Amino acid sequence: MSSEQAGASGDAPGETAGGASNDTLNQLAALADAFAAEAAEVADRPGWESLRLAWLGKKQGKLRGLMGRMKEIPPQDRRAFGQGVNELKGRVEAGLEAIDQRLTQGERQADQDASRIDVTLPGRPPQLGSLHPVTQVIRLIEEIFAELGYSVADGPEIEDDRHNFELLNFPPEHPARDTQDTLFVDGGLLLRTHTSPMQIRTMLARQAPPIRIICHGRVYRNDNDLRHSPMFHQVECLAIDEGISLGDLKGTLEAFCQRLFSPETKVRLRPSFFPFTEPSAEVDVTCSACRGKGCATCSNTGWMEILGSGMVDPRVLRACGIDPARYSGFAFGLGLDRVAMIRYGIPNIRMLFDGDERLLRQVRS
Ligand code: DAH
Repeated sequence: MSSEQAGASGDAPGETAGGASNDTLNQLAALADAFAAEAAEVADRPGWESLRLAWLGKKQGKLRGLMGRMKEIPPQDRRAFGQGVNELKGRVEAGLEAIDQRLTQGERQADQDASRIDVTLPGRPPQLGSLHPVTQVIRLIEEIFAELGYSVADGPEIEDDRHNFELLNFPPEHPARDTQDTLFVDGGLLLRTHTSPMQIRTMLARQAPPIRIICHGRVYRNDNDLRHSPMFHQVECLAIDEGISLGDLKGTLEAFCQRLFSPETKVRLRPSFFPFTEPSAEVDVTCSACRGKGCATCSNTGWMEILGSGMVDPRVLRACGIDPARYSGFAFGLGLDRVAMIRYGIPNIRMLFDGDERLLRQVRS
């Protein structure tokens, strides 16, 4: 028997239908309250998502379950039930939307708070780089020689035998070549073992004195220990003119060394031999660590050997087209790495080329 029939049979139809309706509608009202209570609890995105799944989820969502109950509802109540469910759905959707907006607003605020600039914070000082100790020494030497009227010449690191040896008066098979521990490259070329070939290149290019140049750069030798590296730096000085004497060499060396180390520095020349100078001298300066008293830096001698020098050999001048009867000159060459090690108290030459930033920070000028 259907409820309509029951109604027709004398039961109060409104009551039966109304009773059922009220019951179901009350249930819907209770669900709406439950949703409102749950919604009030949501504090974050995951909470919002579980609320959405619990109510609108395709599998377990409470609203889907309700629609599924439609066939249990007496036909005359279905319309009211359907309306009630739709209304509940509307509320749930609107409720979720409202929470979503509330959360989004909170998130935006948090973003803004996190990226807010505090203008009262002290600024971060910019990280300053520093020049490599060898570069600092090069710049200083360039400055000193610029003041003495010299210019800077530049030449190739890959040289030929002629410029590196022959024209510097190293005859083929001469034992002086052995002192240079030459590194050869293909094609009969070699890595320059010193900056002296730049004397030759300059004289050949200029021909006519006066010549006053320095040249600095990398040089290479097959040598590697605490004091030697296969690549190191030299600076070469060459002065050619009429009437240049050993006195000029000594005066220039004194002026140079006193600027490079300290004004009290003394210079001492010891006789020596180089194929391209005659006479030749090894040059010592008073130790800058102990000022000549004797210490570990100078092996207790009070002196440091720092460069080789001499009067340019007439054979070299002639080979470069300069008349030795009219012109004379001096030359000297020194290792820049050693000067940097002395100036900054660096014990091992390899520390210069390890690229350790801590060293660079300590020698900041
Ligand atoms: N070229 C020499 C070397 O590397 C250093 C040298 C000695 C350079 C005497 C000179 C000089 O100009 O006159 O061992």
